[in-house]
Amino acid sequence: MDLQEKIKRLKIEKNAIILAHYYQSPEIQDIADYVGDSLGLSQKAAETDADIIVFAGVHFMAETAKILSPDKIVVLPDLNAGCSLADSCPPKTFGEFIKQHPNHVVITYVNCSAEIKAMSDIVCTSSNALKIVESVPKDIPIIFAPDKNLGKYISKQTGRDLLLWDGSCIVHEAFSIDKLLELYKKHPSYKIIAHPESEEHILNTATFIGSTSEMINYVKAHSQEKFIVATEAGILHKMQQEVPNTELIPAPVHEDNTCACSECGFMKVNTLQKLYDCLLNETPQIDVPKAIREKALLPIERMLELSK
Ligand code: 13P
Ligand code: SF4
Repeated sequence: MDLQEKIKRLKIEKNAIILAHYYQSPEIQDIADYVGDSLGLSQKAAETDADIIVFAGVHFMAETAKILSPDKIVVLPDLNAGCSLADSCPPKTFGEFIKQHPNHVVITYVNCSAEIKAMSDIVCTSSNALKIVESVPKDIPIIFAPDKNLGKYISKQTGRDLLLWDGSCIVHEAFSIDKLLELYKKHPSYKIIAHPESEEHILNTATFIGSTSEMINYVKAHSQEKFIVATEAGILHKMQQEVPNTELIPAPVHEDNTCACSECGFMKVNTLQKLYDCLLNETPQIDVPKAIREKALLPIERMLELSK
């Protein structure tokens, strides 16, 4: 029996569900019950009746699933699947920052730790950040953390001043504007689409900006066009499956970037073998201390409610 077959059998035996992000490797995406963006994945985690959630993604995503489904076992194939953006917002410093701005509503992008979520009023993802910010009355000031690039983009869209935390994603900040423009010169008929975690100069070149799911939906709706795609390269697998005849090119990254492509090293520590092992052994499990879990639940639930 091959690994894929063993995972499928074990999944049924244990009443488990495999949730995967678009940045996971193709073989993991292909075995998953659901592949989606951060919002879709948290919605699935909230509604599943499985006993075990295998989270093929990064730590903050698995934590969000555990907060929403505390009675279920949540396993992550590799505990080293972290996130540079989540790491850029340490709870102690962020707590002090909030204290310095007491009258602000705190909106945090889902790419942060459970502790940061527990300090927030509302959580958001890249697909609902605009809606969430607009849900706050205009006269109330907002702290937006941890992603400054998404924050700047939403500030521009809404015309509101947001107090931004200085965090960012190493993968989306690796795109090279010079190389992108060079590539575009060679392919002027291609449309550039980008994830809002990218820097402003990259976003300024884009015809469409959205979350990973939104980028896939946009390409599906415009499948007669050709695209340069500025987000983690793992998205190309599902995107190409959806539009097999559409030409897609990943956006280029800086020369000094070690992996020479826009790959998230954190996402890619998960492998099919580790996924099988974590389902078999039910470890490593994600646990969120009760006090943090209970505080973090409300801002996530507010987000889910506002996203309906
Ligand atoms: P979305 O899939 O929600 O767009 O998020 C992208 C991301 O960076 C996840 O880590
Ligand atoms: Fe974090 Fe960026 Fe990787 Fe997403 S792509 S998990 S934001 S480091």
